[in-house]
Amino acid sequence: MTVKFPPISPKLPVFMHGADYNPDQWLHDPQVLEEDIRMMKLAGCNVMAIGIFSWSMLEPEEGVFEFGWLDQVLDRFAANGIYAWLATPTGARPAWMSEKYPEVLRVEKNRVRNLHGMRHNHCMTSPVYREKTTIINSRLAERYSDHPAVIGWHISNEYGGECHCDYCQEAFRGWLKKKYGNLDALNMAWWTKFWSHTYTSWSQVESPSPHGESMVHGQNLDWRRFVSDQTIDFYKHEIVPLKAANPDLPCTTNFMDWFYGLDYREFAKEVDVISWDAYPTWHEADSEGNIASWFAFNHDMFRTLKHKPFMLMESTPSLTNWQPVSKLKKPGMHKLSSLQAVAHGSDTVQYFQWRKSRGASEKFHGAVIDHAGHEHTRVFRDVAELGQTLAGLTEVVGTTVPAEAAILADWDNRWAVNDAQGPRNGGLHYEQTVLQHYRALWEMGVPTDIVGSNDDFSAYKLLILPMAYLLRESTGEAIDKFVQNGGTLVVTYWSGIVDENDLTNLGGFPGPLRQTVGIWAEEIDGLHDEQSNRLVMGEGAAVRGEFEIRELCELIHTEGAEALAVYGDDFYAGRPALTVNHRGDGKAYYLAARVSDPAFYDSFYGGLVKEAGVLRSLDAELPKGVTAQLRTDGEHEYVFLLNFSGRAEKVELDGEAFTDAESGEAVSGSLELPLYGVRILKRPARK
Ligand code: GLA
Ligand code: ZN
Repeated sequence: MTVKFPPISPKLPVFMHGADYNPDQWLHDPQVLEEDIRMMKLAGCNVMAIGIFSWSMLEPEEGVFEFGWLDQVLDRFAANGIYAWLATPTGARPAWMSEKYPEVLRVEKNRVRNLHGMRHNHCMTSPVYREKTTIINSRLAERYSDHPAVIGWHISNEYGGECHCDYCQEAFRGWLKKKYGNLDALNMAWWTKFWSHTYTSWSQVESPSPHGESMVHGQNLDWRRFVSDQTIDFYKHEIVPLKAANPDLPCTTNFMDWFYGLDYREFAKEVDVISWDAYPTWHEADSEGNIASWFAFNHDMFRTLKHKPFMLMESTPSLTNWQPVSKLKKPGMHKLSSLQAVAHGSDTVQYFQWRKSRGASEKFHGAVIDHAGHEHTRVFRDVAELGQTLAGLTEVVGTTVPAEAAILADWDNRWAVNDAQGPRNGGLHYEQTVLQHYRALWEMGVPTDIVGSNDDFSAYKLLILPMAYLLRESTGEAIDKFVQNGGTLVVTYWSGIVDENDLTNLGGFPGPLRQTVGIWAEEIDGLHDEQSNRLVMGEGAAVRGEFEIRELCELIHTEGAEALAVYGDDFYAGRPALTVNHRGDGKAYYLAARVSDPAFYDSFYGGLVKEAGVLRSLDAELPKGVTAQLRTDGEHEYVFLLNFSGRAEKVELDGEAFTDAESGEAVSGSLELPLYGVRILKRPARK
């Protein structure tokens, strides 16, 4: 049976291909705008994100609106088969607004209000900013929500940051009152008897500050949760008039790679479709494996947020302008990078930006149209070729990724683990640890979801918890059930240490998972950068040999688990470092130390994937740096072979027969993948 998600917009049931478009910077030159339309069609672009920073062009004076230019652009789009993600302009505000209502500007942690300028410099709580937002968004909605060219709303731009103004302080207190009910509960949750920090009145409670309070972990954590919630609340405020005018137009806001400041898993509940901005810094090294796996992780995370296709809202057609060194994309990389997003579940390839601006900070950022102003450029040709490729892949739209492996990565865990002092303030490397585990699956072409504590784990065969430091009792119970029901679990050191308030779990680590993994973690040793230890595999283990350990070594006792490896050095030599516990129908592995050698993860997960029968995209040996990713509609499977190794490679297809999804040719035997090569192989669904 074919199971596909409906296209993001019924008006455009194909791959969306296009860019951020700023015609408002070129209104003085009508010829530019005409040329734009001609070249958009030539580039195979069918969608533009428009009006993202246009507030001062839409409302040049308070209450005075000018929509003529936007009418014209959208009408011209409609006449030419080009569609628009229409933006709300709240990412930057007009100067008149900052001047007349300073409260719209952000107050920094030091309690000093910013001057007008920049973007993303507004308070999300300010009643004036919210009112002005409602006015402009209502006007846009009334005028355009039934426009034939408009396919959805691009809400604001890359939400982020925080404000410490009086309005925000009051909102924070309101948020805390709702959460804790009374001050006693707050004092207990924040452990305020420490350093005599007990609060006796709500008015004493403030946001963290470098010249005030910053050492109360529970408070820091709640502040981060509040900032995230308040931003989501602002988004919800933005879409009220849009949904009222036309509830069928999808709303999205462009996210950023594993952005620290917002809990996107919570945010995802409020958006209709996930979109995000990916800027891989290709060509930093000879092999693209590090960067490719990081972006693969992000694509997987964004897909998992709604378990359905997402949008690549921005990417650069050539280079960025904000890295220390701006590298051009080498031939082949544009297609590889764009199809990487598609391979992980994106139904769009969109860019920042269509045309390079003439002035200001982004004038040298990559664009489809360069300052030369015509289509006879390498970048334009790359974009146009990709447009053709995407146009030939319409059958892939709406398919998704059938993952049987998952990695747990919660935002509040990330905030808490990084905020804690000890055991290694010189670098705990939480994010790198998550990626280290992910990387092994990526190298094997294992479709992987990135899940949160409240996700349903029952569809997975393998669940990995790297440094799940903050772990709720209820999550522990769900994970135990996952194992009892036959799942394979991997938990690392520094897991189950604190509860949701950042209060340590009493009664032995890893807290809620102690019985599941069958060990007790008594102490943890931090290693200096130049120090190391060894993971010495035991006789019975499937993986053989020794692997280097760095940074963290937990001293554990088995309580039913069996030791698979021991420490090689230091006073804890011979004590267990890797264990397995058989529980119910499943198995729970515990890795007590940070193994630094990637070969360990490759062979450890290689064994587990085989043993647990976890789905791989392709049952073939993959050269290092070449990954395979899978999309399916239940009837057909599309295997994306992506070569990030930095050289030409050969993949043995082991007797399987495929059709090349681009050319229609039959493919079998041994497949040559050129440098930065990508192939999409189609086959009937296995089962
Ligand atoms: C972000 C923004 C864009 C632009 C690009 C440049 O993604 O959303 O407006 O500044 O970065 O890379
Ligand atoms: Zn504020």
